[in-house]
Amino acid sequence: MSQQVPVIVLREDTERTSGRDAQRNNIMAVIVIAEAVKSCLGPKGMDKMLVDGFGDITVSNDGATILKEMDVAHPAAKMVIEVAKTVDAEVGDGTTTAAILTGDLLKQAETLLDKKIHPTTIISGYRKATERALEVIEEVSETVDPSGPDYKKILIDVAKTAMSSKFVSNSRDPLARIVVEAVLAIAKDLPEGEELDVDNIPRQKQIGKTVDSTELVKGLVLDKEVVHAGMPKKVLGAKIALLECALEVSKTEFDAKISITDPSAMQSFLDEEDRMLKEMVEKIVAAGANVVIAQKGIDDVVQHYLAKEGILAVRRIKKSDVERIHKTTGASIVSKIQNLSAEDLGKAKLIEQRDVADDKMLFIEGTPKSSVVTLLVRGGTDHIVDEVDRALNDALYVVRDVVIHPSVTYGGGALAAEISKQLRDYSATLEGREQYAVNAYADAVESIPNTLAENAGLDPIDVIVNLRKAHTEGKIYHGIEISKGKVEDMKKARVVEAALVNKQVVMSAAESAQMILKIDDVISSRGAPDMGGPGGPEGPGDFGADE
Ligand SMILES: Nc1ncnc2c1ncn2[C@@H]1O[C@H](COP(=O)(O)OP(=O)(O)OP(=O)(O)O)[C@@H](O)[C@H]1O
Ligand SMILES: [Mg+2]
Repeated sequence: MSQQVPVIVLREDTERTSGRDAQRNNIMAVIVIAEAVKSCLGPKGMDKMLVDGFGDITVSNDGATILKEMDVAHPAAKMVIEVAKTVDAEVGDGTTTAAILTGDLLKQAETLLDKKIHPTTIISGYRKATERALEVIEEVSETVDPSGPDYKKILIDVAKTAMSSKFVSNSRDPLARIVVEAVLAIAKDLPEGEELDVDNIPRQKQIGKTVDSTELVKGLVLDKEVVHAGMPKKVLGAKIALLECALEVSKTEFDAKISITDPSAMQSFLDEEDRMLKEMVEKIVAAGANVVIAQKGIDDVVQHYLAKEGILAVRRIKKSDVERIHKTTGASIVSKIQNLSAEDLGKAKLIEQRDVADDKMLFIEGTPKSSVVTLLVRGGTDHIVDEVDRALNDALYVVRDVVIHPSVTYGGGALAAEISKQLRDYSATLEGREQYAVNAYADAVESIPNTLAENAGLDPIDVIVNLRKAHTEGKIYHGIEISKGKVEDMKKARVVEAALVNKQVVMSAAESAQMILKIDDVISSRGAPDMGGPGGPEGPGDFGADE
């Protein structure tokens, strides 16, 4: 009676990899990505040049930037990029470390899988190891006293450490000072309940001079020129009208055709337009403004009348800058010029157009509501300015991290070596196969000092031996002093990091490694990127031939 009918569930062209093959395939992809950024880690790390489809070049050492620019097809590899992005968004630094750690956690897991240890055992071992690692970070981190005499010095050290692995490392002393001053200025009068956000420290990039000319401006800098030559270039005691609307006669949405037969009608038509524009200026004058900052355009006629009234005006301001001006000067964002009144005006002690390199920029200084600082980022070329900007971003973030969570750890692999040692001790207390997983985790964490040593041209085996010895002797702050090529106390060497960064790195890397380990089936439908399935040209068929 019953006849065997084939049941077709998946489309014919669906590609499916399951079990050990799927795991191997995913792990391999992650390792490839992690290996790609390994050479970037640390003060002696190298940079990468990335060229996109349009031929645009990015030169960077920043893990997150490199990974974001890479055009990766493999879904598991994309997950590592997500790790870097998360770490970048949360704490701003440690992205390369997170990618490397994810890769090594999976590399170690691979050897355990080969030993027939079940993925769930590895996952639960990794989970326990992560908990322990976070405890270790808590135990060895040092609390910073925000009212202590060394507070600023420590913040500067943290910023310097973050920048020492970047192109700007030679200028890290002055830059670190600028960064700390910027963060503290913003933190000082942070409105109640508002989080300290690095985005509130705008950065204005300007090609010219050198990295060392990067400066901190106590105020807001807009890359805008005063719109009319007849306007003042400097206004003391500025009263600012901040407009969201255009100072133009709005065009009709549909094409309208007006037939004018009489020349006098033509004149009255133009007069009417002129009257409307003049009225706008009158409204601004009546409100008592001497500066107009417009998000949209300003008609030539309006410019002319504003100039006649001695009012300084700039137009086409970015939405984010409009928000900033609103917050700092107290100006309301006016969306209808008819509604503008004296209460809407914001204040600033000085608004002035100044020359910066070949450009003219508008400086807004002495704002009453809250202070604002701008970093004027300088460098010889586009690519340099961009990389300086990224390094400053990392430094601003790590300083913020310590300000919001005043706790630091020591770098150069010191923390990693201690976590690794503690995990080995901890594994001895565990029963069963999880012990293997915790030991594997310890080995994976050691890949950080290992990579730092490799990149610095040191013998990683000697370095790891010395590190292990030091940590067994209880020297918890010993790490690799790269400039001397020796294992030394990193607290003395002042290689200081934010505890928050390290916690985030461990959590994110462990989470994604566990997630990838849990996958045993990859079903990719038509149109999905090629994953190099088993037996494919780049597939794990040859990679795993020894099983
Ligand atoms: N002077 C130093 N001596 C030894 N190690 C250092 C020194 N300065 C920084 N490091 C180490 O370099 C590593 C950081 O390198 P790097 O900044 O390239 O990577 P990342 O912070 O993980 O990623 P990214 O900055 O790209 O987001 C950390 O382990 C840090 O402790
Ligand atoms: Mg870094």
